[in-house]
Parts: sequence; C-alpha cells; structure tokens
Amino acid sequence: MCGIVGYIGNKNTKDIILQGLYALDYRGYDSSGVSFIKDNKIITYKELGLVNNLEKTVKNVDFNNCAIAHTRWATHGSPSVKNAHPHNSGKWSLAHNGIIENANGLKDTLKDHKFYSETDTEVIVALLDQISTTVTNPMEAIIKTCSQLNGSYALVIINADTPNKIYVAREQSPLYIAKTSEGHIISSDLSLFENKSTEYYTLNNGDFAEIDMDNIIFFNKKQEKFVKKPKKLSLCNTMSDLKNYKHYMIKEINDIPLSLSNTHKHYQKYDLSPIKDILQKVTSVHFVGCGTAYHSALMGAKFIENICHIPAYTHIGSDFNDKILLTDKDSLYVIVSQSGETSDTIKAMHRIQKTNKVLAITNVLHSTIAQESDFLAPTYAGKEISVASTKAYNTQILTMYELANNIAKLQNKETHLPSINTIITEASNILKNNNIDELSYVVQKYNQIFFIGRSYDYVTAMEGSLKLKEISYINCSAFPAGELKHGTIALVDDNTLVIAIVTDPKVKTKMESALNEVKARGAKTLLITNLSIKEELTDYIYRLPCMNEYDAQIISCIPLQLLAYYVSIHKGFNPDKPKNLAKSVTVE
Ligand code: M6R
Repeated sequence: MCGIVGYIGNKNTKDIILQGLYALDYRGYDSSGVSFIKDNKIITYKELGLVNNLEKTVKNVDFNNCAIAHTRWATHGSPSVKNAHPHNSGKWSLAHNGIIENANGLKDTLKDHKFYSETDTEVIVALLDQISTTVTNPMEAIIKTCSQLNGSYALVIINADTPNKIYVAREQSPLYIAKTSEGHIISSDLSLFENKSTEYYTLNNGDFAEIDMDNIIFFNKKQEKFVKKPKKLSLCNTMSDLKNYKHYMIKEINDIPLSLSNTHKHYQKYDLSPIKDILQKVTSVHFVGCGTAYHSALMGAKFIENICHIPAYTHIGSDFNDKILLTDKDSLYVIVSQSGETSDTIKAMHRIQKTNKVLAITNVLHSTIAQESDFLAPTYAGKEISVASTKAYNTQILTMYELANNIAKLQNKETHLPSINTIITEASNILKNNNIDELSYVVQKYNQIFFIGRSYDYVTAMEGSLKLKEISYINCSAFPAGELKHGTIALVDDNTLVIAIVTDPKVKTKMESALNEVKARGAKTLLITNLSIKEELTDYIYRLPCMNEYDAQIISCIPLQLLAYYVSIHKGFNPDKPKNLAKSVTVE
C-alpha cells in the first residue's frame, strides 16, 4: 500500500519526483526512497519517515533525467530504511505497490541471494536479477519474473544497462503513465498529471510497458507489443489549499458547509435516466465500504429502510470479500469510498459486477472505483487530504439521503427531502460557535472512553469513536446503548468516560436508563444532544441544534470530528498523518 512515481524527461527530475512523492504520501508515509542511474550504476537514497526527510538527504543530489521513487506503508517488515523501497539486486532497482503472496516460496528458491530486507519486494528484484542472466532483453526478464508472482503489484523498474528507460508492470494495483511536455510521468494515481497533461494511459492487469523519453511501448504477458489508446484526463478536485489553517483536518471540517452545498447542487440536476429502471424496481439495497465509508453506509441503510421501506444491508469491504456471494437481481449494490482506491472495496465491486451493476458513491472522480463502476453518484467534498475522513462522511450521508428520496419518488412513496438551507446554516453555526475545544481538555484525560447511542445515534457514535482513536490513540469503542449491559458494562468504572449521542426523541428514555447504569458504576458522562436530558445524568454537555431526524444525521458528527481534532493537537500529535495509517488503503 504505497505510492509509486517514475519520471523520464528533460526537466528537473528531482523536482518532479519529490512533488510526486508529496502528492502520493496519502498512500503511506513511513519511509520513502528514490533510485536513478549515474555512470551506468544504480544509485539509491532512502529515509525513514515523511518525504521531507528524503528531500533533505538528496538536497545536493542530481537525479539525471530518469528516476523511480516510492513512499511506503509497511506490509512486510517494519518501517525502516532497510525495508524502504526501491530494492536493488545486481543491475536492477525496483519499487512496488501490492503484496506478493508467494514471496516466501520464491525466496526459498533463491538460496544464493543475500537478502537485506524483510520485504516481499526484494524477492521480486532478486528473481528478476536471476532470470535476466538467462534471457536476451530486460522486458523479457520482467515478463518472465512476473509470471512467477502471485498477488498484486504495480512495479516501476530501472536497469543500469539501459539508463534511458523505465519499465513498468501491473497486476491488481493501479498504475498510470502520462506523456507530458516535460517527459513521461508514471504514477499510482492520476492527480500527479494535473496541469501537466490532458491524456494518460491506464495499465490494465497483465500489461507491461517500456518507456523512454519519446515512446511508450506496451507488451502483454506473451511478450507481444500492442497499441493502447490514451484516455482523456479531467481532474476536478478543488479546495486543497490549507489557507490559514494549521492542519488539513480542521480546514476540511470547516469545508463541510460548502461541500454539502456543492453536493446538493449536483443532485438538483442529476440525470437519473441511466439508472432509473434499476431504482424503480429495486427490492433491497446493499452498501459496501470500509472505515468511515462503512459508517456512512450504515446511515444510508437506515435512510433507505425508513424512507423507502425496503430492506437495506451494509457490508464491511474486507468481510464482504470473505463471504460467499449471494446476489439477487433486483438488489441495488452501492459501493462507498472517499478515495475510490480502497483495495477491499474495489475487490468487492469487481465481485459484485460478475452478476449485478454497481453504483459508486465516491469523492475522487478519476479514481479506480469511479472509472470502473457502472453508475456514479459523486460527492463534491473537494479534495480530502487529512487521513481522518471528515467532510467526505457528511457528503456521503447527504448523497445517500438523496438516493433514498429518488428511490422513494420513483416507487411512488412519500419523500423526505433534505432542508438543505437549514442543514448548511446549522453546520456553519456549529463551526462558528465552536466550544468543543474546552470539552476536549476533559476527554484527553481519559484512557477508556465508550461512545454510546441508539439507532442513528449509534452510527454517529461509531464514527466519533473511530475519529478519536485514529488520531488521538485513546482506546475507545462504540456500542449500541442497550448492548452495554450484555458485557461491556463490566469495564465501566470511575476511570471511564461515556460519550452519549442522543438526537432521537423516540429513544430518549432508554438512553437515560443507559446513562443511569453507567453513572451508577462511577463513569462520567458527556452528552452530545439536542434533547433535554435529566441534569443528574449529565456531567458535560454539547448542545446540537434541533432538527428533524434525517437532517440531523448529516451534521450530528461535526462536534465529534472537532473533539477528535482538538484532543489530538492537545496531545501533541499531527492529526493529518496519524501513526501506522495511510489515507488510502491500497492492499487487502
Ligand atoms: O477512501 P475510502 O473511503 O474507501 O477509505 C475507507 C477507510 O480507509 C477510511 O474511511 C478510514 O477509515 C479513515 N481513516 C477514517 O477516518
């Protein structure tokens, strides 16, 4: 799960490579490295940590006219310089995104090779080095090597004997090439080509290419050359400027009103015709997503059931891929992903597409999911850079709300249209009157926090808990309030903080019972509510605006997003780049 960049051209190679690494570090940032060729020798620099560490190291180094580079999220072996890519063997240097499942078996066959790292990638380059002694040209060696690999890979490769060439290969992990006025750029995602090219090539599974200053020659697995048509590039992710904010996360939370407004505007004129027949007769809806996208899907399922009165199911991407596939022809399958690059979600989409069409809700319109889904329902959150997803979540929920209303309308059922002006005004009010910072000083003192809620509020509790744990490293979990007494309450004592979300009047009395139970065991309570809850059950309170049950769900998580942010910065962490994580999880 990593970012790959390669460049061959006549401009400043180092600038292009470093810009690429910075742009791709959302795919992993535990180490980075670069290889290039000087005097027919491979030169490699690697550093642990963020890309700026590598930038400092190569300050006075010239990369020549061709280089490959990598920013890593550790899968095989700890984050360390020795495990950082590129990996070298003989005249070869190679960077890899993906996982080689038969690496151990292959390693056993390479007895004479001295391995320096714990990675699966070093096995590829060692095998390539060995095979290259038995064949006549580099591309043949690469294709033969890849024929022995099981798993997923995007590879960029250089060879000291061909200093003006980069070789690439793809199986399951995305890789793109653009011809620009500056030369050829290779990248794990399309954003690097923005303002540099209007066209790009997608490598499909089993494709290989040999790239020099002027030409790109494509090969298939049989070593046959073929011609590929370029695709048009249109990138439109805006709002990535940090402005005067200290971190992207707080900037992105403050983008929520505009993101909601842009998303709503799009659905005012959304052309339903391609999917109209499916929505008209849909009898159930299945959502698939991971992390925050899974949480918004849970909310979406509640909208579908409550507004359309048809059953809705939600699946975690990785878990869905372990199940046997039981699809139903009148079910609608909805894939949810901010980045559109999450590997588990992509795999689920491909499985479903064997029998059913897929509607994708995604924020990145040039992503794999956006390109490969059958129908697209975009969110217009604008670029989300912080690892913790915030504004994408709010816009995903709004999009599902709009989807539920479209289904209801087409099936002649009562609709509950979003009061978009109220939603946007109240979201702005929460951000303006932001007094969450004070509460964050209370929260940061705890090492054990339970988030509880019922119905919609339980989903918000899950999202609040995920936000807090991923950027503040506090051990917290979310539970349906009624479930506490079935086990977890055994952990509740006076060192526990219980954060309760209560926006649904129907469940207020039952929530009060749950609060009574935790207070009786010594816990302190923080309420996030727009209802009036008994004072003796409330140690701390954050007041949400009063809104109807559907509209409220789009914004009730904002105080929890803010809470996580402030706790993280008070603890001295970087909320944009939490440890062990990456923005986009591109391995299974
Ligand atoms: O790009 P995606 O929406 O597919 O990403 C899914 C999750 O990896 C993502 O939501 C993750 O859980 C975030 N770090 C949560 O803040």
